[in-house]
Amino acid sequence: MEVSKVLHMNGGMGDASYAKNSLLQQKVILMTKSITDEAISSLYNNLSPRETICIADLGCSSGPNTFLPVSQLIQTIDKERENKGHESLEFHVFLNDLPNNDFDTIFRLLPTFHESLRKQNMGEDGLFDPPNCFVTGVAGSFYTRLFPSNSLHFVHSSYGLHWLSQVPDGIENNKGNVYLTSTSPKSVYKAYYEQYERDFVSFLKYRSKELMKNGRMVLTMLGRKNEDRFSKGCSHEWELLATTLKLLIAQELIDEEKVDSFNIPSYNPSPVEVMYIVEKERSFTIDVLKTSEIQRNSCDDEKYNMVKSFRSVAEPLLVSHFGHDELNMDQVFHKYNEVIANDCKAIEKIMFVNVTVSLAKIN
Ligand SMILES: C[S@@+](CC[C@H](N)C(=O)[O-])C[C@H]1O[C@@H](n2cnc3c(N)ncnc32)[C@H](O)[C@@H]1O
Repeated sequence: MEVSKVLHMNGGMGDASYAKNSLLQQKVILMTKSITDEAISSLYNNLSPRETICIADLGCSSGPNTFLPVSQLIQTIDKERENKGHESLEFHVFLNDLPNNDFDTIFRLLPTFHESLRKQNMGEDGLFDPPNCFVTGVAGSFYTRLFPSNSLHFVHSSYGLHWLSQVPDGIENNKGNVYLTSTSPKSVYKAYYEQYERDFVSFLKYRSKELMKNGRMVLTMLGRKNEDRFSKGCSHEWELLATTLKLLIAQELIDEEKVDSFNIPSYNPSPVEVMYIVEKERSFTIDVLKTSEIQRNSCDDEKYNMVKSFRSVAEPLLVSHFGHDELNMDQVFHKYNEVIANDCKAIEKIMFVNVTVSLAKIN
């Protein structure tokens, strides 16, 4: 599986889309806002006046969450600017994701974004003074160079960096699993961790070239709380998928070998692992490193459906591995629903641990 050609969230604005099923990820962006605010304020205080501020959101996907972090960052800087009595600023925003991401939907949502910026900045006198904000879409993997040298002030990424650049090599023996579980051989854990380390090191190296002096990054990944490799958490969701696929094998709806060769290209790092890699790579200092938790079923919004939310992320990977004609996706997620319904504790066990790290470039 070539992840950069395959991975994307379900596009569009329909019932199964990421745009309509990413309330949980939206909550995570809001939960980490204080860390992002602190980092962007500290950046602003080190800038020369009237510089155009260049911000990149990496792994932006498509839908309302694409614009949320950027709107928050612009609002925070603009408040700082107003408090200091400085002149109005210009922003250049880069929205990045893999080439198969639904950039069309992003561009269609641009007028709404500009409108909300205008509303955000409506003064008491009713006059509009919105900052000029220029938005560019950037298609490509964040494990490669994406921007010219010294061109960015701030990089933000939420829920993108636990995705690996490839399924680790040498995990053919992870049979019966689709991810790391307590029954995975030790060599499989090692292969997953080493792939994560290689990818994260590349990410840090490339971003350190692209960020300017005093540049900052805030990254949130789906991770683990501690060194317990198999602590249940978001990985439990992949175990439920493995159970679902086994039931479909028993019904002879899919081939066992095909399931054995299906592995998720994702790794959930612990804060200690993140710290170890950042310190080893030596381009950034860590300002904040924090974990937070959110339960999968914590969104009590009636529009939120846990299975649809999982489907909007997992479906493109399943389709790419099994093929549309081989495996009926409605059938898969119907079965997944049954698996959850038969294990009332299943949903409670799905706890998402967020590892957030705020980094400053070593000049
Ligand atoms: C779960 S979505 C998160 C989207 C959004 N940031 C949010 O918080 O709702 C993860 C996104 O990261 C993107 N992604 C994963 N690996 C990537 C890579 N190597 N380069 C760029 N984007 C990547 C995926 O395509 C996906 O759109």
